[in-house]
Amino acid sequence: MQYRKFGSTDLQPSAIGLGAAPLGSRTGSNESIEVLNEAFDLGITFYDTAPSYGQGESEKIIGKVFEKKRDKVIITTKVGRYPTYALHMAAKFKPLARKVLQKLSGKGIRQPVQSSVQTFIRSQTKSNFQPSTLSQSVEESLRRLRCDYIDLLLLHDIPQSTQIDKVFELLKSLKQQGKVRYYGVSASSLEETLMWLEHPEWEVSALQLPVNLLRLDLIDRCLPIAQQRGIAVIGREPLVRGKLIPSTVNDTNRLTYLGSHQSDDRFAFLTGNNIRTMAQAGLQFVYQTEGVSVVLTGMSKVDHVRENVAALKLPELTPQEMEMIRSMSICVA
Ligand SMILES: NC(=O)c1ccc[n+]([C@@H]2O[C@H](COP(=O)([O-])OP(=O)(O)OC[C@H]3O[C@@H](n4cnc5c(N)ncnc54)[C@H](OP(=O)(O)O)[C@@H]3O)[C@@H](O)[C@H]2O)c1
Repeated sequence: MQYRKFGSTDLQPSAIGLGAAPLGSRTGSNESIEVLNEAFDLGITFYDTAPSYGQGESEKIIGKVFEKKRDKVIITTKVGRYPTYALHMAAKFKPLARKVLQKLSGKGIRQPVQSSVQTFIRSQTKSNFQPSTLSQSVEESLRRLRCDYIDLLLLHDIPQSTQIDKVFELLKSLKQQGKVRYYGVSASSLEETLMWLEHPEWEVSALQLPVNLLRLDLIDRCLPIAQQRGIAVIGREPLVRGKLIPSTVNDTNRLTYLGSHQSDDRFAFLTGNNIRTMAQAGLQFVYQTEGVSVVLTGMSKVDHVRENVAALKLPELTPQEMEMIRSMSICVA
């Protein structure tokens, strides 16, 4: 494993980070624990979660696994997006829902059932950036994570209409109290990211952004500025939320979030002679992108963890391959 500089902070995370969004949602507790243990054994020290992931379950599982080795891992969690009461209630039926979905394996009805579940979850996850809510949220996250500090706290998709100054006042105070070591923002659009980069007075230490072979806009316009300002970049969705992997897209047994069920195979040339898998190519592209500290990918299978960590030992993508990727990419903001 390689460990990377993280902006102007004193953190030194593993180059590959584990996105814990599926843990405690489509992946049950035991399987999630196995995945986290394997990731840790292979040198992954960066874990990204949120109160909304698995309605708090993702944080709880991370807390359980890393309680005794807290100083060996970097835990990122978020504030601002929360499950509604209705979703909390519905979450009690998750183990049953997983069993039902398992039984529906291979049957045509499974796909529409999964899509409905996802639509329900999304509709029942709401934003709230009131400072008092954020403060309470940090306390609850600390409790679920079984620790007394968060390495990096991110604002989770903060709407433009929020009273931002008050939010940063609170974040600075949490940092002074030692509950949060660093804070930052998880953003998606180019416009929003440029805005975060323009305000040094907010003292943002890190940005979590979609960085992949289809999102060159953020790479070209934001990463150089972030680097200049000492702001670390976490490149998330390196596999375009699974769209890069045809087998993932075609696997209707998975309760996953894909923007569409169309795979994108224009980059298949990167896997010629079986030198690497498509997943490894996607990760290598982000890993080799100047200005990215951590490549953050969602992993809920032990085999995926192994394959992804192995990507760092492969021959790098050549300058010619990097150029070809550029010429074949389009921006899908
Ligand atoms: N607004 C936000 O703050 C926000 C938004 C999106 C994502 N995130 C964070 O970023 C993380 C990464 O994003 P993402 O998970 O949506 O996108 P991603 O990393 O591009 O894609 C993850 C998908 O690829 C699959 N995968 C991983 N390794 C694979 C391999 N070797 N072979 C085949 N398939 C593989 C995973 O399947 P398995 O699960 O089956 O392993 C998962 O379905 C999330 O987990 C979350 O922590 C944050």
